[in-house]
Amino acid sequence: MIIRKSAEELRAMRRAGLVVARAHELVREMIRPGITTLQIDQAVEEFLRRENAVPAFKGYHGYPATICASVNEVVVHGIPSADKALEEGSIVSVDIGAFVDGFCGDSAWTYPVGNVSEEVQVLLRVGEEALYRGIAQAVVGNRLSDISHAVQQYVESFGFSVVRDFVGHGIGRQMHEEPQIPNFGPPGRGPRLKVGMTLAIEPMINAGGYQVDVLQDNWTVVTRDGSWSVHFEHTVAITDDGPRILTSLQE
Ligand code: MF3
Ligand code: CO
Repeated sequence: MIIRKSAEELRAMRRAGLVVARAHELVREMIRPGITTLQIDQAVEEFLRRENAVPAFKGYHGYPATICASVNEVVVHGIPSADKALEEGSIVSVDIGAFVDGFCGDSAWTYPVGNVSEEVQVLLRVGEEALYRGIAQAVVGNRLSDISHAVQQYVESFGFSVVRDFVGHGIGRQMHEEPQIPNFGPPGRGPRLKVGMTLAIEPMINAGGYQVDVLQDNWTVVTRDGSWSVHFEHTVAITDDGPRILTSLQE
């Protein structure tokens, strides 16, 4: 069952989303060569707690940290570590989830560390635009897979690939609600989108092949071919006026 939210519930979802957006601003300002992913994790956790928000990932199926910090060929679920100092020319995908007043916001962004190569700049731009292409399909009357299809079409036209093994999701009082939202597939399938649905749309894009592996720690997801990967995610509400991004800084 897809849980639709009332106007009042959407206001709470926006409060959660805004805290997550502000946490990303903090991350953006912190990222520089030499900083460790654990330092970023600790700063985000402090920020969230100061805002009376509860980290959504910590303890989730035993996940040990507040953020996921996934460097270069790591696709998602990289565990922050004091041993992982960011290097010039790298990329890091930072995923942040938080509960405020019982509702969850979830957003991921891939940041360059210093100057990155032209090819990586293209990968970053395509990943971000793929998210917005998906969001643009989150309108009343469309079907769920119209989102999936828009993402895949756009990404593959650049010769990049879309990760199949991890998907976006409904979100609300739980971080993960129905439906699952693949980033690939034919259009016109799945449930019809309705006002009040809230979706975490989160394409994961590999520069090479779509295959991934999970490392021995049972969390870290890497590309099988070692190619670099980006991850862009927003929590979005479907409204009569179109998609409303709940995890953006500005209205
Ligand atoms: N954005 C990711 C998701 O939707 C973050 C989950 S990380 C986890 O699943 F550690 F909480 F699993
Ligand atoms: Co998510």
